[in-house]
Amino acid sequence: MSNFNYTRKLEHEKAAEKAILAGDYQTAFIHTAKAAQFAFNLAEQCQGSLREAYIVNGNVLTSIAEELKQKDLASASRSVSGNSQTGDENPPFDAGSTRLERPGVRLADVAGMEKVKEEIMVRVINPLRDPEKAREYDISAGGGIMLYGPPGTGKTFIARAVAGELNLPFYVITAADIFGKYVGESETNVRRLFAEARRNPFSVIFIDELETVFPKRTENIHESTRKVISILLQELDGIDNTRNPILLIGATNTPWQIDEAFLRTGRFDLSVYVGLPDGSAREKIIVNAFKKVQKPVDRAGIDYLVSHSGGYSGADLKGITTRIKQSAYRKQAGALGKELFEECLKEYTPSCSPDISEKIAAWEKSVGIVRTE
Ligand SMILES: Nc1ncnc2c1ncn2[C@@H]1O[C@H](COP(=O)(O)OP(=O)(O)O)[C@@H](O)[C@H]1O
Ligand SMILES: [Mg+2]
Repeated sequence: MSNFNYTRKLEHEKAAEKAILAGDYQTAFIHTAKAAQFAFNLAEQCQGSLREAYIVNGNVLTSIAEELKQKDLASASRSVSGNSQTGDENPPFDAGSTRLERPGVRLADVAGMEKVKEEIMVRVINPLRDPEKAREYDISAGGGIMLYGPPGTGKTFIARAVAGELNLPFYVITAADIFGKYVGESETNVRRLFAEARRNPFSVIFIDELETVFPKRTENIHESTRKVISILLQELDGIDNTRNPILLIGATNTPWQIDEAFLRTGRFDLSVYVGLPDGSAREKIIVNAFKKVQKPVDRAGIDYLVSHSGGYSGADLKGITTRIKQSAYRKQAGALGKELFEECLKEYTPSCSPDISEKIAAWEKSVGIVRTE
């Protein structure tokens, strides 16, 4: 799918929204018609249900353009005065204020996490690629996956890789969106984000650090925050996977801090434990880290690090390998020898303590989750 067509479609949609706000229906008409054109271009480049979805999207945009044209004609024939509010239940958005991202990471960059990757294939990639087969089994795309596990194990990383891989619109919700500075701002942001996601035939919404977005101790929460949380819950409830499938991914390092009532609502139909990398995952992360180094890298050093780094997270390994490179650079070493690997590993303590693993296991038990990884 072409990024170009997608970006253009979005730009025209945003410009149209702006024009509608300003009461300039003629400009809005032009942009909406262009957006429709790009939707059809996208359809041509896609297959299966994504193609169908873009055709529907193009048709919807065409009929909106038609309405705007009528509005323009009507407003030209009478003098417009005062209120330019559209009365639309979804607040219009302005360019640059949405949390849309296009990450450059790919699933192939993610080491290990086979279970998560498999689920993503089943829930997103395969149904979009071969909708006919999915229909035979009554499988629809979308759904909710919660990733939990020790910090630095790649939960945020894989969520971004999914979006990067599929070239799908990827929306991020963090606590910053919920605890907005201005009263009312956060509510608008949340509504706007979902309104935009609904305009796409398929999108990924990622809620990072779930425990800060849906915290347990709700008594201490400010009234305005409570309101935003309830709007977010409403929007999550309103996801209609038969019309605009949305893959919802949530991630947390401290699942025991999440509001249990929220977990019970079934918004995430699958919880996957993301654990520390095993030997082969560690090897992949380590080898990757030295891919761009132009000096010789001692294979014995890599092997040493792979076999002695049990208990270290992906983020730790990234930290260690960065130190090795920095240290070689500082010394202007002719090659990255094994002694550098030994030295840097010795100085680095794993960030995941046994205490964290225990807390996670206790939480699983308390909510009755049987670990799948
Ligand atoms: N399984 C993994 N494969 C590849 N890189 C990883 C993996 N786990 C962690 N990393 C590296 O560590 C960094 C931090 O991981 P992150 O996704 O933020 O962890 P988490 O969200 O689980 O706390 C990532 O950006 C990535 O560079
Ligand atoms: Mg994270």
